[in-house]
Parts: sequence; structure tokens; C-alpha cells
Amino acid sequence: MNLDWNNLGFDVRKTNAVMVTRFVDGAWTPMEADASFTMSLNPYALVMHYAVACFEGLKAFRQKDGRVVMFRPDENAARLRRSAAYLGLPEPPVELFIQMCEECVRRNLDFLPPYGHGASMYIRPILMSVHPQIGLSPHPEVVFAVMGTPVGTYHGSTLKAFSAVIPGNYDRAAPKGSGSYKLAGNYAPTFRPYNIAHAQGYGEMLFLNSGTREFIDEFGSSNFFAIKDGTYITPLSDSVLPSITNKSLQVVATDLGLKVEKRHIPLAELADCQEVGACGTAVVLTPISRIDVKPVLEEAEVTASYRFCEDGAVGPMCTKLYRHLTGIQFGEVEDIHGWCYPVC
Ligand SMILES: Cc1ncc(COP(=O)(O)O)c(C=O)c1O
Repeated sequence: MNLDWNNLGFDVRKTNAVMVTRFVDGAWTPMEADASFTMSLNPYALVMHYAVACFEGLKAFRQKDGRVVMFRPDENAARLRRSAAYLGLPEPPVELFIQMCEECVRRNLDFLPPYGHGASMYIRPILMSVHPQIGLSPHPEVVFAVMGTPVGTYHGSTLKAFSAVIPGNYDRAAPKGSGSYKLAGNYAPTFRPYNIAHAQGYGEMLFLNSGTREFIDEFGSSNFFAIKDGTYITPLSDSVLPSITNKSLQVVATDLGLKVEKRHIPLAELADCQEVGACGTAVVLTPISRIDVKPVLEEAEVTASYRFCEDGAVGPMCTKLYRHLTGIQFGEVEDIHGWCYPVC
């Protein structure tokens, strides 16, 4: 495939096939490859108006020695099952999830970026209720589809820092809501503040716990971590998505000799942190240069501003963690924890 592997960005590309299975009469139909990238849905399908859908995001890599691997697909399978259970949808078995992702990568191999460009294939599994109804009673008629598209990193191909804003007048998740599940419905309400924050030059939004607004929760599309006096700290919260990248970085941090603490992080503690980063499959590890606190996102007032690094001067621990994690994914660093699942 003749693509500009160094400048892929994070866009959707039509590839050879989408893998599809349906839950019919209590069982999953044999998976099929669909080349049309078109699905016909009844306009009353539950997903269309009530967002009865959950999804995942994971990556496949072509490694230094030519092998193709997926990063920790068993973890994504478990998380999708947890989201499905929350929505009352049938939970795809772990083996089916992995088979669908594996087959998606195999059928789209010519879209998998070659080694050496820092690029990978983003795999997007989605589970949705397509049953036509207007009542809120559960009646699952479900499609499980897996797509894959070649991507660079979310924020560009090099490790560069982004500024973030805490929007005082927006929450990502309700205190006893669905924030810790990867539900389609969690994301729609973040588009409006994202558009405003981006127009103001911020790369990310950081949300506080919505109940008391005392502690840091997570970024809109990724988890939060900070480096404070040789310790990797990350929020303990019921409304944060349990990030597989964060889980992996906590292990990498320990391997690199850092202490790891998962606990409540008061906003004011930002003043004592040397480095801050956003982590997730899409953002990988994106250092944060500055965090502004704005009581009202739409207005100019900034009540506090925390600085961590200048753009282009990324902190040493963020750099080490990034190199180690991506080193494992690209087969440059020994995968001592067995995170890379071989595809071919
Ligand atoms: C809200 C949110 N938090 C965190 C993450 C990071 O999770 P993971 O590392 O499993 O991709 C994501 C992206 O998947 C996300 O959408």
C-alpha cells in the first residue's frame, strides 16, 4: 500500500474489510468479512437514538523483526465484556473478540504500517444494539464489528507536549454514572467543550471528579498520570476509564525504578508535580506542558495555571516511559510481561 507512513495522522481510511458477527437466537453467527464498509440499519435501531453501544480501541504493530502483534487484546476483550454487561448486551467471549481483531489485522495487512515510522494500526471493535424499538426495555439484537485503520499517533508523530484546560462548567462523568465503562454515550457530550477548548488552543481537557470537584479524574480521551519526586501517581476514581495503557505504564514505571501510587490526587497537588502526562491507546503518552483552570470554559478568566515543561522540552521520565512502552510494542525492548499477542 502506497501511503505516507510518516504523516498518517489519526484519520479513518477504508481498508479491505470489516469483520462482522451478529448475536442471533442466543449465539454469535460465524464472523464474516465485509468489504463494503456500509451497514444498513433500521432507523429505529436502539443505537441510533439511545446510543446503546460500547466500543474498544487497541493497536497492532509491525515489529522490528517483521512480526505482527496486537497489544494486550485480552484486556480490551475483558473491558468490552464489562461495558456490554453494563448495557445489558450479550458479552462477546474473549476468544471471539481476539479472533475478530486478529482476522481484521490479517485481512488488512497491507494497511499495517511498516516498522520504523512510529505508526500502527488502530483497531476499533464496536458492539451495538440494532433492535428497532422506541421503548427502553432491553431487547438485544446485536452487531459486533471490528475495523482497523492505519494511524500515526493521535497528536502527531513526535513526542511533543500539549496544554490542557480544566473546564469548570463541564463534567465528563456523573458521580455514580457510567464513566468507567467505554460507552458510546459517554463521548457525545464532550464534543462541544472539546471544540471550544481546541479553538482556544488547548490540546486536551482535564476533568475533576464531578461530585465534589476536589480531585483529578482524567482527560477527555485518556488517563492522567504525574511524576512527583520519583513516584508515578495516577487517580483512584470510580468514574475514570480503566486505561490499559495506564495499567501497562504503572508496570513499566515500577520496572524503571519508580514508586507507583494510585490514589486521590487533589487539584492543588499539581503545583508539586514535576511532570504530567496523558496516556491511552490513541494518545500513547502525551506530555502535558501546562494546565489552566477556567471556571467557565467559554470565558477568558483563568484562576490557576500549572506549568510542567516548555513545548519541545519534554520531561525525562515521560521520555523514558514513552520509549520503554513503545519499545515493547515495536519489539525493540524485551516483552518480559508477555503483552504482545502474535498475529503473524
Ligand atoms: C476516556 C478515556 N480514558 C482513557 C482512555 C485510555 O484507555 P486505553 O489506554 O485502554 O486506550 C481512553 C481511550 O481509550 C478514553 O477514551
